Amino acid sequence: MTIAEHDPLTTASTQLLIGGKWRSGERDATFEVFDPSTGSSICDVADASANDAIAALDAACQVQSAWAATAPRERSEMLRRAFELMMTRRDELASLVTLEMGKPLAESIGEINYAAEFLRWFSEEAVRVHGEYRMAPSGSSKILTTRQPVGPSLLVTPWNFPMAMVTRKIGPAIAAGCTTVVKPAEQTPLSALVLGEILREAGVPDGVCNIVPTSRPQEVVTALLGDPRLRKLSFTGSTQVGRLLMSQAAGNLLRLSMELGGNNPFMVLADADIEAAVEGAMVAKLRNMGQSCVAANRFLVHAAVAEEFSDRLTARLGSLRVGPGGDEGVDVGPLIDEAQRQRVAGLVDDATRAGATVRVGGSAPSGAGYFYAPTVLEDVSSGAAINREEIFGPVASIRTFASDEEVLVAANETVQGLAAFVYTRNLGTALRAVDSLECGMVGINRGLVSEVAAPFGGIKHSGLGREGGSEGIHEYLSVKYAAIQI
Ligand code: SIN
Repeated sequence: MTIAEHDPLTTASTQLLIGGKWRSGERDATFEVFDPSTGSSICDVADASANDAIAALDAACQVQSAWAATAPRERSEMLRRAFELMMTRRDELASLVTLEMGKPLAESIGEINYAAEFLRWFSEEAVRVHGEYRMAPSGSSKILTTRQPVGPSLLVTPWNFPMAMVTRKIGPAIAAGCTTVVKPAEQTPLSALVLGEILREAGVPDGVCNIVPTSRPQEVVTALLGDPRLRKLSFTGSTQVGRLLMSQAAGNLLRLSMELGGNNPFMVLADADIEAAVEGAMVAKLRNMGQSCVAANRFLVHAAVAEEFSDRLTARLGSLRVGPGGDEGVDVGPLIDEAQRQRVAGLVDDATRAGATVRVGGSAPSGAGYFYAPTVLEDVSSGAAINREEIFGPVASIRTFASDEEVLVAANETVQGLAAFVYTRNLGTALRAVDSLECGMVGINRGLVSEVAAPFGGIKHSGLGREGGSEGIHEYLSVKYAAIQI
């Protein structure tokens, strides 16, 4: 399949979705969306102002009580229909993701599957929300607990998985009975907008899902966070922006789910299966061109296996085809924009100035688009910025250690705590690593932790709360308790 077989723009709405109506932004303002593989403009999208965002919140608030009162089975079936509609339109939706975000089509198809699975998963969770009826220890009263939707929720989603990060939030919100205002990333609003069409077609009532793309995210989000009717913020993005939003959300004491940055170690211990470790590294590093919060950021390798691991990884990265995600046979697409490419290039230059060796890559190809060559760096000094900052690009930075113990200690030398990957043949070592690693998710002999049925999230500066799994719906529910005297 190529992009040409589907014209994604024939279906993607380019307007705001407010109260079930597609409409233009205040004063008909628009902004441009760009194709990162060429840098050229794809289309204009309605540009929400703070007033438009408040109109979206008005719509969400108007229907919140009625929506909370719908039968869980009804909400479940809407999600199930939306899952099926997404699967029916999978190739076309994948083309749209590739067009606005750049990833190769095969990866976009993977993203649509992943995105749709959140809708299916939460259609199943919608009907499994339980309370309890129990006796107080004194025996003098009964305790009744029930769970209620937290209320109107703001979902701020990133550009790296423009469809899956929306369904991972809106799936549980719908399942729980919350109404929503979605603010997609300005680089990739089209996927969220077409999802709005799908949810409407699946029967989600007007006002439950409002979508406000904007080129002025700060202004729009600040207006929404300042409105006392909003009850929750779910954000995926950088730790820096997350910290700012948390401080703004403190004013109205919002419920928070924060999926923030990672600095994920990928550990190869002395007894690791090196072939498997290289396979895992390819996924952990190259998925989404490295633009994922769960991408491997620091490769920490035991000296006994470092040369073999590095040689094999270099050969694999060197053989990848870089190009527009819509072209046949492309393995690695562009980065999202020039600023991101400059950031990645800056981290590589800083590491090489501090003594790192470039085994492969290390530069940006000339020509249109925001491409960066898959890169392996060896002998990266511990002080290099690339060890502290999230790379968000196809660069593997390798450090070597004399013992497994040192590798495990180095893994925790970060303020982030999202994910970690460990390769070892020893089950005891693996389980001790799970206990000692300061993070929310650990891949054992596996380069991918993302899974709809698992709780995704971090600790330390990587965030609060969990998405997916049986935990995900509870981010949108409050517990209420009644004390009962009989
Ligand atoms: C992210 O990068 O924010 C999420 C990636 C994933 O779910 O795998």
